[in-house]
Amino acid sequence: DKCGYEHFMLKEIHEQPHTISDTFRGRISMDQSNLFLGGITDVLPRLVQARRIIIIACGTSWHAGLVGEYLFEEYARIPVEVEYASEFRYRNPVIYADDVIIAISQSGETADTLAAIKMAKESGALILGVCNVAGSSIARETDAGVYTHAGIEIGVASTKAFTSQVTVLMMMAFLLGKKRNLISQEAYEELIAGLTQIPDKIQEILSDEQYIKGIGETYKDATNALYLGRGNLYPVALEGALKLKEISYIHAEGYPAAEMKHGPIALIDENMPVFIIATKDKSYEKIVSNIQEVKARNGKVIAVVTKGDDVIVKMADHVIEVPECHEALAPLVTIIPLQIISYYIAVLRGCNVDQPRNLAKSVTVE
Ligand code: M6R
Repeated sequence: DKCGYEHFMLKEIHEQPHTISDTFRGRISMDQSNLFLGGITDVLPRLVQARRIIIIACGTSWHAGLVGEYLFEEYARIPVEVEYASEFRYRNPVIYADDVIIAISQSGETADTLAAIKMAKESGALILGVCNVAGSSIARETDAGVYTHAGIEIGVASTKAFTSQVTVLMMMAFLLGKKRNLISQEAYEELIAGLTQIPDKIQEILSDEQYIKGIGETYKDATNALYLGRGNLYPVALEGALKLKEISYIHAEGYPAAEMKHGPIALIDENMPVFIIATKDKSYEKIVSNIQEVKARNGKVIAVVTKGDDVIVKMADHVIEVPECHEALAPLVTIIPLQIISYYIAVLRGCNVDQPRNLAKSVTVE
């Protein structure tokens, strides 16, 4: 049931304040001083001692994994590799028994991810799952795991499953950082409190839907688009580009903002929309110069900025404001306007948003 929405994708975008709450509900202590991940409690000592974390996934779930990489390295100081399941399974990867593998999959049925898990089992490494569908093949093949609890996702373009996967990875990273004594109780509580405020912040972005749709109207006839971000917002750029290409059939690419000058900058002219995720964090000054570089070549800049930004507003063609939040949590809010804009561009182009051509919701063949 679409509950009055025109498409499942739009309904699922709007569900995110609730689905993210469902992901952390019951996993945060009443006084917000601690996190509990019941599904991995028994194996937590092995995770805390992990020599390395290898994340395997495909598509949007792989993008969530890339956000996880930043968080695990920043907060838990554990080295992380994020691998496409399809590549990982056909290499001869080096896996140590004290590695921890985390397979991320909304459906829990993706053939390559499932096969990669089976292959990795021989190494003796602990294998965890981050799945949305309870009792799915990947959930059953893994040693333990954390369900995302985003509810059934019908739109082929993943939206709420992504934000729930990222929420789980955030909780895992903060918990590991605390257990490894790398973050203070105060910092830990600040992160937990910040996470609980995310649903309201997303609600605020959703109330700007008509404004964001208007920007979509301006760019609906584009043939190409670039998405740029830095740090943990680089995976958000990749995810924004995937959302646009898979439902609107506009060619779109995501890049780390600083990589632009190593090639993609040659593509920029007055017809190229460039979506730049430019919220206030430690890379802010650098992203401001990236915006200047695009504007100097007459590219069109659509910037996702922190509310109240008074610098980028003067440089960009359009700004979309998002509420301020802890830098670690920014992927959860910044992806929302990119999902909305992709949705409206695809609708305006007359595309079948919920079932894009050539695509299956769950890729159960290799
Ligand atoms: O069910 P999974 O999370 O394993 O699916 C992985 C990809 O097939 C999936 O994320 C795909 O890229 C989506 N169409 C993205 O919106």
